[in-house]
Parts: sequence; structure tokens; C-alpha cells
Amino acid sequence: MAGGRPTTTTTMSALGSTSTSTSTKHKHKQRVLLSLLATLVFLVAASVLLSTKTQTQPQPQPLLRLHLLRRQASDHAALVSAYAAYSRRLKIDASRQVRLFSSLASSLADLASRSDVDKEAKDRVKLARQLVSESKEAFDTQLKIHKLRDTIFSVHQHLHRARKLGDLSSRIAASSTPKSLHCLAMRLMEHRISHPQDAFPSTPASLASDLSLYHYAIFSDNIIAVSVVLNSVIRNAAHPSRHVFHVVTDPMYLPAMQVWFAKQPPTAGAHVDLHSTAEYTFLNASYSPVIRQIETGNQELSLLHYLRFYLPEIFPKLKRIILLEDDVVVQKDLAELWTVNLQGNVNGAVEMCFGGFRRYNRYLNFTNQMVKERFSPRACAWAYGVNVFDLQAWRTEQCTEQFHQYQQMNEDGLLWKPDTVLPAGLMTFYTTTKPLEKSWHVMGLGYNPSVSPEEIRKAAVLHFNGNMKPWLDVAMNQYKQLWTKYVDSDMEFLQLCNFGL
Ligand SMILES: *[C@@H]1O[C@H](CO)[C@@H](O)[C@H](O)[C@H]1NC(C)=O
Ligand SMILES: *[C@@H]1O[C@H](CO)[C@@H](O)[C@H](O)[C@H]1NC(C)=O
Repeated sequence: MAGGRPTTTTTMSALGSTSTSTSTKHKHKQRVLLSLLATLVFLVAASVLLSTKTQTQPQPQPLLRLHLLRRQASDHAALVSAYAAYSRRLKIDASRQVRLFSSLASSLADLASRSDVDKEAKDRVKLARQLVSESKEAFDTQLKIHKLRDTIFSVHQHLHRARKLGDLSSRIAASSTPKSLHCLAMRLMEHRISHPQDAFPSTPASLASDLSLYHYAIFSDNIIAVSVVLNSVIRNAAHPSRHVFHVVTDPMYLPAMQVWFAKQPPTAGAHVDLHSTAEYTFLNASYSPVIRQIETGNQELSLLHYLRFYLPEIFPKLKRIILLEDDVVVQKDLAELWTVNLQGNVNGAVEMCFGGFRRYNRYLNFTNQMVKERFSPRACAWAYGVNVFDLQAWRTEQCTEQFHQYQQMNEDGLLWKPDTVLPAGLMTFYTTTKPLEKSWHVMGLGYNPSVSPEEIRKAAVLHFNGNMKPWLDVAMNQYKQLWTKYVDSDMEFLQLCNFGL
């Protein structure tokens, strides 16, 4: 996953986020304030217009104006309620202001539904204006504080973008690095345009479906992260030429990835097989609720994240695959993982529960009847990051259909938050997951400062889940080297793009 996008697996909440969340509120508040003021001005103008004109020419304009005025009053009511909510949260002069805002909101809403509005509307508007100017002072102080901070980090724009990408704590750091990631993709594209004669790697179909080789799926738009995953697997493999990496990316990033791997092909005879999501025509709205939800405007869904639920369709000829997330680094030969006995299960994964923590009740909404009936709240949650999937068992168990059912039930996001995929995985592979030995997957290097050195040393795969990704400025120093040692630091593109690695 690029930049500060939320990790699919675990514990974002492990990090404090108050300082940055105020900035979000501040933006929103500013917007609310501005639109509130604009509405106010309009409302005043409309009401004045209405009261003067009704005396001179009663027909037929007033009806239209009245309609306008009522609509504005109702919009206004919504804004004032929003304002009340913010001031509640910010505890600005809490009780008095909240009370005033609330009563004002309800009387405005009331006004909106009546027809004889102008005199009373004017009074209400006057009061609203007065309130707004009072609270504006309080907000102004806040604005100044925020301005100062924004200037210090000069990341206004990036904060905004990072908010959309997802998580709070990574925001400040994310301000610089997504810029580098973006720069890298752009440089690679430039290169491609200026060297149209260059050939790009393509893997023969026979190799891509050769059942005697080890196959990996990596779904990512982060070129440098993908290259680290590949390098780390290859350098720790006894027989690199038997490893095939199937990388699927966003159509936008495919050309850049092609340039990267043309210049820096996998070493020691390993294979990379590059694809774009656009190639999978079976992924259409009539088949997949994910696509349907994306096409109807659900912005929280990322197709790349959800591709993991279509492994048997993406790799119709394979019987087994290892799914790696792009924020892992590999330290041991994964050939052994490839041959692990799943005992008829679909998914091999490392569990992450301990005591009462990280059990199903943390990820699923057990208020829901279906969830209550089908799952145990105490069931142990496992993690994405490194998983082995038996694709034949998957096909037999019809896990994709199962996933589709749950995905449909979660249309309104009540079962799980759609920006994470783990809950959907926990449901889909509820009875078909085989716990793997813990050293296969050691987690938390993106948020937990105290992962034991012993565990790290023994780990086959280290997972930088959390916000402090190793490619970001906020990466934890004690872990960063574990990742950076696999970066192709002699690639000119990296130096051009200011990666502080
Ligand atoms: C949509 O996908 C299904 C199977 O996944 C396929 O049979 C169908 O032809 C696809 N439709 C289009 C318009 O591509
Ligand atoms: C959990 O499910 C219940 C019942 O479907 C729903 O009313 C509630 O809003 C859900 N909670 C969350 C946090 O989505």
C-alpha cells in the first residue's frame, strides 16, 4: 500500500492521533463556518427581499421566494447543528453555546416547514449571526494555532490528501513521502516516454502457471515497496529461479513498474510477472459486489486491497499461492512455507490473539444477528501480511461466493469498516484457516516500538503494519535498516526523488 493508506491487517488505533485529528476538524470547521456564513448572508438577503417585495408586488414571485427561504432555513438548520456538534466536541464555552445552537437549529428547522416566515426568520437570523460571530472569535484562536502548525510543517495540502488516504498518525510524515513515491512513478513514466524502444519484462505463460515453481501474489501500487519484497525473498532463497512474483497494480502504475523492472530485473533468475487490474475482465459489476460498490461511489473501497478475494480467478491454473502484502520484508527462504501442510484448509495464517485481545469481537459487529449466529466472538483473529492459500480448496469451498455474500451484507458498512479487509477475511475463512507457526509472520514493526529482538531475528517475514512505514520519514529507526538493506539504492530514480533512505 502506498503512503499512509490504512493497513489492512491490524491495530491502527495503537497510535495516538489527537494532535492530527484536530487539524482535520479544523479544516472541516473552516468549511462549515464559511458555508454557514454564506448561507446566513443569503438568508438575510432573501428574507429582506421577501418582506419588502411582498408589500409592493404580491404575485407571483413570493411563492418562489418563500420556497427558497424555506429551503435555505432548512440547510441552515443542518449547518447550525453541525456547528453545535463541533462546538460540543471542542468544548468551546460548552454548555451555553451548545444549548443556543441546538435551540436555534430546531427553531430554524421548524421555520423551514412553515409558510409565514419572514418576521420571525429575520429575528432568528439575527440571533444566528450574533452567535456565529461570537463563536468565530473562539474558532479564530484555534485557527491561529493551526495555522502556525501548518506553517511549521508546511503540509497543508498533504494533510488533506493524507486524510483521504486514511490514517491520522502517519499524516505528518506522509507529507513528504507520498511526494517521493509520486515523483518516482512520474520519473519512471518520463523514462518510458523518452525511451519508447526499451523492452519490458514479460513472463511466458508457461512459466507463470508452472506448478513446480513457487508463486507469490503482491497487489500494490508502491513500486519501491514491491521491489523490496522481491529482493528480500530472492536474497534469502536457496533457489531464486524457482520463485515467480505475480505483481498486480493499478493501470496507472503499470508502465512505471514495467520501467523499474526492465532496469532492475529480479536477480538470480527469479521471475516477475506484471499485470494491471484492468486485465481481469471477470471483475465487473454484475459479478462482484466490490466493483458494484466502487462504481456506485464508495470511495473507501480500494480494488487493489480487495483483489485478495479473487485469487482463484486471477490464477486459474495455480493450485497454491503465497499472498504477500507490500509492507513486509522477508528474511528466510519461503520455499518451506510453500510446502506447509494446510490439512484441507484454504488459508494458512499466523494468529494474533492473546488473552482477550484481537478476537473476532474486535473486528466484527456482534450486535448484528447474522454475525451473532455464525461466529464466535472469542474466535482468534489471524493476520494478513503473509498467507498461504490452497486455491483448490478455495474453489471447492466456494469461498469467493461466501465473500460476496458478506460483502453484500456490508453494503452500508455496519458489519465492518470497508476501508479494511481483515474482517471480510475473518468471516470468509472462519472455519477454513490453519494457524501457522508464529515465526512465519512477526507483526507490528510499523507501530510497536518494543517488538523483541529475538522474535525479529527468528522471523521469516517481518510486517511493518501500522503507520510508521519503513519508506516514510517517521519509520522507526530501530527497524528501518531491516527494510532499507533491500532497497536498490543505486537506482538513479530514487536519488532523483529524495527518498531519505
Ligand atoms: C462479467 O464477469 C462474468 C464472470 O465473472 C463474465 O461471465 C461476464 O462475461 C462479464 N461481463 C462483462 C461485460 O465483461
Ligand atoms: C452494528 O449492527 C447493528 C445492527 O445491525 C447496527 O444497528 C449498528 O449501527 C452497528 N454498529 C456499527 C458500529 O456499525
